[in-house]
Amino acid sequence: MPPLRGRRVVLGITGGVAAYKTPELVRRLRTAEAVVRVVLSRSARQFVAAGALAAVGAEVVEDHRGPGMVHIDLARWADAIVIAPATAHVLSRLAAGAADDLLTTMCLATEAPLCVAPAMNRIMWMNPATRANCALLAGRGVRFVGPDEGAQACGDNGPGRMSEPGEILGMLERLWGAAGALRGINAVVTAGATYEALDPARGFTNRSSGKMGYALAAALADHGAAVTLISGPTALPAPPGVHLIPVTSACQMRDAVWACRGTMDLFVAAAAVADYRPQTVLADKLKKDAHTLTVTLVRNPDILAEVAGLTPRPFTVGFAAETGDVETKARAKRARKGIDLIVANPIDEAGVGFAGDDNRVILIDKDHAAAWTAAPKTEIARALAREIIKRLPRTASP
Ligand code: CTP
Repeated sequence: MPPLRGRRVVLGITGGVAAYKTPELVRRLRTAEAVVRVVLSRSARQFVAAGALAAVGAEVVEDHRGPGMVHIDLARWADAIVIAPATAHVLSRLAAGAADDLLTTMCLATEAPLCVAPAMNRIMWMNPATRANCALLAGRGVRFVGPDEGAQACGDNGPGRMSEPGEILGMLERLWGAAGALRGINAVVTAGATYEALDPARGFTNRSSGKMGYALAAALADHGAAVTLISGPTALPAPPGVHLIPVTSACQMRDAVWACRGTMDLFVAAAAVADYRPQTVLADKLKKDAHTLTVTLVRNPDILAEVAGLTPRPFTVGFAAETGDVETKARAKRARKGIDLIVANPIDEAGVGFAGDDNRVILIDKDHAAAWTAAPKTEIARALAREIIKRLPRTASP
């Protein structure tokens, strides 16, 4: 059955120049046999006429301030809500939970998946306020498509162009499980820091937040993979549709990964695994009796290297958090561990890396290294998922 046949899509249009593409989006949705209702923000009407949307088969719902429950009716009716174009303003209002017009009230009142196709000037897109709003929304399960890079209506060149209607349609197809490039693929992702106990109260850990691994798990699941996320302690919720296995120590993480080894097609090691653990875990809390304290640490298993040593082995992706000459160190690490792809990131640059929302990475495979510009981890995760899809051997069952 065509994936969009009979699906009920509410298209929210906000006030960006890219709104001129929405009649084409409606036409494509209708051709794919979706049922479309449109909600226009007040400023969207300056860019696209309700008549044009109706002419291509959408029902345009008016934002009446009456006694009715239009927002609830729409919120219940929708199988998915798509906001395209999504301006910086609507993203900020969604992040804040605003409910001051039909579009935002409906979004607040729905349990349907919410997809947004941002469109704005590149500096607005990169502004920390917009970055923070996007990270917040992605963390709540909002799906992003785009924005694309290129020439902008304002004369700038960069990220911020609304994705083409075909891409937005593709996201909905993936959402409903039809076109996922990773359908049939079992992916295992490790994330977060491990915690190596010393005594009942104390232990060794590191500053990894888990955000990169969680974002990758979500991005792979969006493409239809069956994702198991094996995570050290973090403050993050499980991404929608991902099977989360919480662990604490490196040895527990290794055991959980090892249990998946027979069925794993793809392994992504995003966890910051402690290289060492205390040789003995004390049963009682350590007292400060002596002036100095020596703790003997022993090596933890290298989970990524073990998985890379399996035959047959899954496609393996590792991370290399480095300082100094990041690329050279990461290239050597990729070869040493025998993995397919390594994602190198500097941890000695302000604003990117470990705990923050942004990252700057260099993607290195056997033949190439590509340096990407700094971007939110959620966006890097989506771009990485696309790179993995390009390289993954076609092991998926049809
Ligand atoms: N990794 C792992 N198991 C470990 C250590 C690391 O799976 N015990 C994975 C990480 O998830 C990451 C990659 O290996 O994908 C990082 O490699 P690693 O050599 O551990 O990095 P560093 O700890 O930074 O290495 P070194 O200290 O040798 O530079």
